[in-house]
Amino acid sequence: MGDMTSITAATTSADVRERYLDMVERSLLNAIHGEPRLESALQRAAMRLRHPWQTRSWAPKDFWPVKAHTMIGAERLSHLRRLVEATLADGIPGDYIETGVWRGGACILMRAVLAAHGVANRRVFAADSFAGLPRPDAERYPADRRDRLFGFDELAVSEAEVRRNFEAYGLLDEQVVFLKGLFKDTLPTLKGHAFALIRLDGDMYESTLDALTNLYDGVSPGGYVVIDDYGILGSCRKAVHDFLDARGLAPSIEPIDGPGVWWRKD
Ligand SMILES: C[S@@+](CC[C@H](N)C(=O)[O-])C[C@H]1O[C@@H](n2cnc3c(N)ncnc32)[C@H](O)[C@@H]1O
Repeated sequence: MGDMTSITAATTSADVRERYLDMVERSLLNAIHGEPRLESALQRAAMRLRHPWQTRSWAPKDFWPVKAHTMIGAERLSHLRRLVEATLADGIPGDYIETGVWRGGACILMRAVLAAHGVANRRVFAADSFAGLPRPDAERYPADRRDRLFGFDELAVSEAEVRRNFEAYGLLDEQVVFLKGLFKDTLPTLKGHAFALIRLDGDMYESTLDALTNLYDGVSPGGYVVIDDYGILGSCRKAVHDFLDARGLAPSIEPIDGPGVWWRKD
């Protein structure tokens, strides 16, 4: 009878944890109240394009939601949750970071996973300018020369707004670290810092390369690298391969959905 009680209790708490994280994901995607149709010029243009991922569950309509706290879509969000949970289950040491947080949703999810598993000794770093993307430095990074994302106000979300979003989930505490500024200035301060997972979502060549250059060596063996835009932004993909080639690395890069990929560091 005692055994039965403990099995039931264990099953119930795992089930509640799953349901909590499912609910956080749905809320981050604004799937509960329903996301309004998108209106920006880029979104309208994207809707007209016939991208190969249009048939998948992630589609251009997921670009830049009006209210949702993340733009990464359901597949990449739940994949992120599974990877963070895998690092906990496997005891991969280190913190978690996203470079390019926008409204903070992916970081909120990572903090929620730590909360759901009762992990109090790991932190989530949220690195962003909190003012949108930088203008391309075409001289140093020719791959960015056509990038115009700096011109979109939709991509500039203040630190105060991201903090409010964390607060709305009851997840703003000392386990969340805000790293404000351009990656080229902020990320060198994290060189060598141990991470169990790094999630790169800065879109541009420069932003992706700065993140890999400063964070990759800190990823623990068995830890994960997630690149949000590898499948859709050639400049981001080029930064990944320039970095890997320069290091003589050839990890097995796995797709998540159309845009997102990940690999595990040996
Ligand atoms: C596509 S959004 C990130 C989406 C977010 N991960 C989500 O879950 O919805 C890109 C973000 O990267 C930031 N960013 C891009 N390049 C940057 C850089 N070099 N330095 C600082 N922030 C940068 C922008 O400010 C923006 O918030």
